[in-house]
Amino acid sequence: MGDISSSAYALRQRASARGLQISTGHAQQLAAALIGHKTLAAFQTSGEPAATHDAAHLLIDYELAEDRARELSLPDGLIPAAVDALGDEMPVAVHKGWDDFVVALQDDVHTEILRDAEVISQMTMANAGLRYVDVYLEGLEEFDLDTGGPIELRLTGQVLMDQHPDRVFYGTEIDVEASLHVHRFGKRLFGHPEVRVTLAKLRWMNEPPAPLVKEPPVNKRQPFQLPICPDALPDLVVERGPGDQGVGWWVPEVKHTTLAKYISATRKAQAKFPKRVFIDPFCGPGRLQVKGESFTRAGGSVVAWQQSVDSDCPFTSVLVGDLKPERASACEDRLRALGAPVRKFDGPAASTTLEMIEHVPANALCLAYIDPYNLEFLSFSIIEALAKLKHIDFAVHFSLMDLTRNVDMELDPARDRFSGANPGWRDRLPADISKANLPAWFFEDWMAQVKKLGFQISHAMPLVEDSGRALYRLVFFSRHAFPDKIWGDVARGRNLPLFDFIE
Ligand SMILES: C[S@@+](CC[C@H](N)C(=O)[O-])C[C@H]1O[C@@H](n2cnc3c(N)ncnc32)[C@H](O)[C@@H]1O
Repeated sequence: MGDISSSAYALRQRASARGLQISTGHAQQLAAALIGHKTLAAFQTSGEPAATHDAAHLLIDYELAEDRARELSLPDGLIPAAVDALGDEMPVAVHKGWDDFVVALQDDVHTEILRDAEVISQMTMANAGLRYVDVYLEGLEEFDLDTGGPIELRLTGQVLMDQHPDRVFYGTEIDVEASLHVHRFGKRLFGHPEVRVTLAKLRWMNEPPAPLVKEPPVNKRQPFQLPICPDALPDLVVERGPGDQGVGWWVPEVKHTTLAKYISATRKAQAKFPKRVFIDPFCGPGRLQVKGESFTRAGGSVVAWQQSVDSDCPFTSVLVGDLKPERASACEDRLRALGAPVRKFDGPAASTTLEMIEHVPANALCLAYIDPYNLEFLSFSIIEALAKLKHIDFAVHFSLMDLTRNVDMELDPARDRFSGANPGWRDRLPADISKANLPAWFFEDWMAQVKKLGFQISHAMPLVEDSGRALYRLVFFSRHAFPDKIWGDVARGRNLPLFDFIE
């Protein structure tokens, strides 16, 4: 990589193959800009040429390269050729954006963790096969390329295993703590991630997690807390849950907190899209009261809107709907009172989503928050319809209570309330499935249908339990690795196996 001349030479060749001419000097200037230096001279005096032999990752500086190409009046179309030339000539992984870089780091970290001797020993003890590594680079979204030095993070998480049915069960969850150091060799050059595992411990028989001795993160961020703001419209209807007793604590603590953290953590990626749309076809009235609390709190879409404003990436459109017009109107009014560009839709989500789609501008980045009370209303047609949007990520409330209690009864074709949520599931059901395994199979099969639409489903699926009963999972899916990685960061916690409550 020290050899910027070879990159410039390769660029000239590639350019000429595309019918574009560029002088050696300009090719060198463009290569220097792509690695973060305004001029070739600045690169040469920076000390980077000597240090770069040890670099492992290069994060391309497109903005600077575009500025430089304009200043030097270079022909259009040279930058992609220059990026390809750098990629060929340099012994580094070239990343076209921060998101790609983070995903690559994440992969490297997982590989390093699986190479650690203690992790291997604990995996051997588990007597099971690897499922996945649930360790995310929490806090990396705070890293500032302009001012940051090396990347240093403390990592916590788990290596999760799949039990072999015919082997003795010792446990499938290995708690892992580690530190990460990524040396910074220059403006845009980083070293190979150094991961030091400080703890690897199999949870014997899946015992509950020992409270992790969590040192404050390196950047000393405060724990995330949802703000509690007064209701601008207190006379409007409020969601108070079953029997008006109040909703569960998990609604703000799990559902809304995860949603807000995700919006905050993706603000830089969102800012790249001029149009950002929040879609909430089960919006409720925009205000709720938690059981045991004397005050009310913001509902999901209001939390999302406020967070987008606080994160300097306000949604450019908020589309809300509810079966009950009074609720949809209350939500609309509350959002409007906070300045949101809101539009409301009355009726069942399966039809309002079709109308909502008509109001999504081309190329908008969409976040769909699908939050029905139970599985019966999680119509798959909602997901299929929204999946037609080009850039869309989903956070879905998947009711487990309904599933675990009722799935066997739904085998009766006269009843079958779940065919809307997972069309054709009874035809795919294996003949020899036991009643105990039916809910797990149903969930896996639903995920398989979602994947067929081109989505990847995050392994991080916060599980909400109440008095030992599994109530629901918050399932996230997207088409890209970056949102998936961010959700993995923010939705971390006790990431239990998908159906650990099944006998
Ligand atoms: C769990 S609440 C929504 C809470 C809200 N998303 C939040 O986070 O504050 C579910 C809402 O869905 C509405 N609803 C029920 N069935 C529906 C359907 N088929 N289509 C649209 N809305 C429905 C209910 O009236 C209720 O307001």
